[in-house]
Amino acid sequence: MSKRADLEQAFQALARDGRAVIDGQRRETPTTFEDISPATGTSIATVSQCSVSDVDDAVASSRRAYDSAWSTMSSADRKARLHKLADLITANAQELALLEAMDMGKPFSDAISIDVPGSSYILNFYAEAIDKVAGEIPVTDPGNTALVQRVPLGVIGAVIPWNYPLEMAIWKIAPALAAGNTVVVKPAEQSPLSALRLAELALEADLPPGVLNVVPGDGPTTGAAVGLHGDVDVLTFTGSTEIGKKFLEYSGQSNMKQVWLECGGKSPNLVFADASNLNEAAEFAARAIFFNQGEVCSANSRLLVERAIHDEFIALLQKEVAKISLGHPLDPATTMGPLVDATQASRVERYLGLGKQDGRLVTGGSRLSIDGSDCYVEPTIFTDLSSDAAVAREEIFGPVLSVIPFDSEAEAVALANNSIYGLAASVWTSNLDRAHRVAGLLHAGTVSVNTVDALGVTTPFGGFKQSGFGRDLSLHAMEKFTGLKTTWIRFATTQP
Ligand code: NAI
Ligand code: MG
Repeated sequence: MSKRADLEQAFQALARDGRAVIDGQRRETPTTFEDISPATGTSIATVSQCSVSDVDDAVASSRRAYDSAWSTMSSADRKARLHKLADLITANAQELALLEAMDMGKPFSDAISIDVPGSSYILNFYAEAIDKVAGEIPVTDPGNTALVQRVPLGVIGAVIPWNYPLEMAIWKIAPALAAGNTVVVKPAEQSPLSALRLAELALEADLPPGVLNVVPGDGPTTGAAVGLHGDVDVLTFTGSTEIGKKFLEYSGQSNMKQVWLECGGKSPNLVFADASNLNEAAEFAARAIFFNQGEVCSANSRLLVERAIHDEFIALLQKEVAKISLGHPLDPATTMGPLVDATQASRVERYLGLGKQDGRLVTGGSRLSIDGSDCYVEPTIFTDLSSDAAVAREEIFGPVLSVIPFDSEAEAVALANNSIYGLAASVWTSNLDRAHRVAGLLHAGTVSVNTVDALGVTTPFGGFKQSGFGRDLSLHAMEKFTGLKTTWIRFATTQP
């Protein structure tokens, strides 16, 4: 049997339980929906559509777990259980990677080599951080001392997108749990299966019931119920800018919960003619937009290229596109899978039409049907765009690269910063002065020089402007899930 057939058989054998996990139990809900795989166009699970009252139960359960178990547990114990969960992710890597690939379309080879090990690594990082982040004793006047502690905030609501279903959940859950909070996760309706399986593994790792509840459902019902809940202390979200703004409203309409938003981007990649290796720059530029089908918030979807090397660079990019193998996520040869669902494929298809009107199609440009699924979109490049073209301005979240030529450094920086977003940016140059100068001028949470979209667990990730605020990853992520508490102690400086 081929490797693909083996993996398909392994996937068929999985339980694929789509029921909510609330207070340590699977829950049947009266309303359910079908989870359609973009690989096949058929249902792979029946999933709970959690109601307002299911969310109430989940929040109440997380509150109990916070008060009576998790926030009062010793740090050593909490750490050991989080490490155990990380080990269980590793032990169940194949299952999690299969769920991820079939649920949202990414190549299994990426899920098993990047998403799953990354999730376990990040969980271990925050488990270790539990007893390494300490408070402060600031300078105060004689006769006083003040302790400044970072204390957990309570119940965290985490609303997760579908592009990295497991990893995005872990980016929120790991620092939140490490800091002593409990979490209610609302996974994306397109990709709920890995988060649900994670909640089962958490129970196996001896996280007390309620420490991690997972409530699948759609945005307007279940997502809004979490956002509007009066007993959720913090809401952390990754997704579109449009829905990010809704969470700010929900907070104002309810209990003024803290809100942290990691929203979209239209990240620029600036390639100057003095880049030392254009082959490498092209290889990275292609990866920065075509990896994960372009469904990456920090994808470098705008390529600003110096006019002198424009034609040469486009030719190099075409060579890179030719190496991409579009196909079924479980086929080991696949390097690009289908988009997450037909809705997203239609959304991207609309931009393909707009790009053809406003610019010149270099390669790709079509939606395809493969294996009975119409969720595939070819890797696509448009050039000769002006910066106000829709494809050059709006987040597409698909494998579509928009190229804009520039003539000077100042023009490149102005074009790059002419965006409502400010998540990431990349710069290619061999000139050290230019590298520092341009990196300093770009409005982006992360600037990558002579690489693209660089990130790691030790560095903060997040944006400026309408890409949101608050940082995931690094020890700074724990700041979102803790509050500063000051205790003053006055004492007599002389013995009476
Ligand atoms: P979305 O922002 O609607 O979905 C993200 C999460 O928010 C999901 O869990 C969803 O159920 C929830 N949600 C949706 N509507 C809600 C509401 N009214 N109240 C509360 N929660 C709600 O993203 P969607 O529709 O899946 O994708 C549309 C576009 O959003 C994409 O084409 C892309 O441009 C952008 N996006 C950006 C992501 C990022 O990582 N920055 C991730 C996913 C989407
Ligand atoms: Mg799905």
